[in-house]
Amino acid sequence: MGKTLKYGNLKEAEDFSTNDLYEFISSQEHYFEPNLSYKVNLRDYAEKLSNLATVNICFYESKIVGVCAFYCTPDIYDYGFLSFLSVESTYRNRGIAKKMVQDMIEHCRHFGMKTLKSSTWKSSKAMRMYMNLGFKATYSLKDESVLLDLEL
Ligand SMILES: CC(C)(COP(=O)(O)OP(=O)(O)OC[C@H]1O[C@@H](n2cnc3c(N)ncnc32)[C@H](O)[C@@H]1OP(=O)(O)O)[C@@H](O)C(=O)NCCC(=O)NCCS
Repeated sequence: MGKTLKYGNLKEAEDFSTNDLYEFISSQEHYFEPNLSYKVNLRDYAEKLSNLATVNICFYESKIVGVCAFYCTPDIYDYGFLSFLSVESTYRNRGIAKKMVQDMIEHCRHFGMKTLKSSTWKSSKAMRMYMNLGFKATYSLKDESVLLDLEL
């Protein structure tokens, strides 16, 4: 009993800290194109997400296995922005990312966001999921990047 996948929020989950977020991001960064550390300092990035974003986590016992981190700041912007989404490789293909993205969409709708934005790259495994959830993609002509937009 109790050994199931659980979902929560980093700020509310007593067992997890910004350092756990940093370690999770570090373990996943090589799945991103380009690698995240090519663009940002990972410790600063984890701090920033922890302080300013909504960081939803999926965990199994004491281990984070998925993170969906997004900005939803209705007092400043009328759009949300998905900054980081990743699921540990052994836990993939069982609907964790889809559930986390759907929860984020509901959260942003609830707070009156008009749009949800993100970016990814053309060959990302997440592309099909974003398309199935109704995101519209704008492809870059000069590199592999794709801008994503969902009307809420
Ligand atoms: C992309 C990623 C987050 C998907 O996580 P996941 O928990 O395995 O995804 P889910 O099981 O919820 O699957 C959701 C959808 O993604 C798509 N998908 C997932 N894995 C896929 C794969 N290997 N190939 C193609 N499509 C895939 C499917 O459309 C699936 O929907 P379906 O089950 O209705 O067919 C995960 O592969 C990952 O962390 N990748 C590395 C980091 C990354 O690419 N992050 C996204 C960058 S924006």
